[in-house]
Amino acid sequence: MMGIKIIATGSYLPSKVVTNDDLSKIVDTSDEWIVKRTGIRTRHYLGEGETHQTMAEAAAKQALERANIDRSKIAACIVTTLGGDYITPTCACMLQAALELEENTACFDMNSACAGFPYGLKLAQGLVTKERPYALVVSCEALSRLTDFTDRSTCVLFGDGAGAVVVEGSEDTPDICAILGSRSNQPVLYIDGSTEEGPSYIHMEGQAVFKFAVDIIPRCIQWILDQAGKTVEDLDWLVMHQANERIIDHAVKKMQMPPEKAFKNIAKYGNMSSACIPIALNDLYEAGQLRSGMRVLCVGFGGGLTWGGCLIEIGGIS
Ligand code: UT7
Repeated sequence: MMGIKIIATGSYLPSKVVTNDDLSKIVDTSDEWIVKRTGIRTRHYLGEGETHQTMAEAAAKQALERANIDRSKIAACIVTTLGGDYITPTCACMLQAALELEENTACFDMNSACAGFPYGLKLAQGLVTKERPYALVVSCEALSRLTDFTDRSTCVLFGDGAGAVVVEGSEDTPDICAILGSRSNQPVLYIDGSTEEGPSYIHMEGQAVFKFAVDIIPRCIQWILDQAGKTVEDLDWLVMHQANERIIDHAVKKMQMPPEKAFKNIAKYGNMSSACIPIALNDLYEAGQLRSGMRVLCVGFGGGLTWGGCLIEIGGIS
């Protein structure tokens, strides 16, 4: 059984920065309400010349340059996303060309909504081999395309962005102890498929999703710790999906963790679905706060209602 480590990170935040005051000009909201109820102050949207694909490519290239590995030894390119520029070819297939990955690389997109990143890591762990020990996991979301800018209860929450990691598998690395699940078919968070009736938007009953999140997150963290034979003291970082600052604070309190171990960047970027966790990892890296040997517990939750997490080590970063 091979475990995986994260050996490099990358991210891309698109150019258009939108403040709470900007949104208060188009819906009945205020900076005060948004900050108090969510912790969000700004978010990034796709700007001129930027697409889902350009974000994914930029994040992936940064992670690959930092990893400095033989690309022929990449076994898989996995993109987690609610949807890219095309239904087919997938974002992962277009990355294969842009990054000049070998033809025999498993390339696919997967949708586990905001829980996508831990799902992607678990799949990556299953796909790496002794001969080809590397995998690329890219989480890329263009939520501004799925946002109903007449609905104040959702449009203030979301942002666009991409995060990427390169993982390396080895028999000496522990299993990431991923626990993945779904409280399935919940109508409290959905986006319609393509219809003739017009664009598809995110619909969310915020309070119901909030209750789901505060119920499942501490349980998910505890299950992962139990499976790994670790305690919260063994963690260097808790990196959660950034949906609401109050959800993160609740998990920290429930787990009786020092609050400074739970990384937050929601104020700058808002909720970017599956891209939140790898972008947070890259922010930590760029702040010099992610080093080899560290243990990071990642937890995601969202549409589906999916949830999942894993405990992953950092390697190759001095
Ligand atoms: O990424 C997927 C996972 N998503 C989540 O985890 C989201 C979980 N849910 C949440 O984070 C929170 O429920 C929200 C941030 C979405 C909403 O916060 P809340 O404290 O649950 O507010 P609420 O929905 O209970 O609404 C309270 C009030 C309502 O007014 P009344 O009925 O009390 O008069 C809303 O109409 O706030 C009103 N409201 C707003 N007011 C100003 C809702 N949105 C806004 C707004 N600005 N943008």
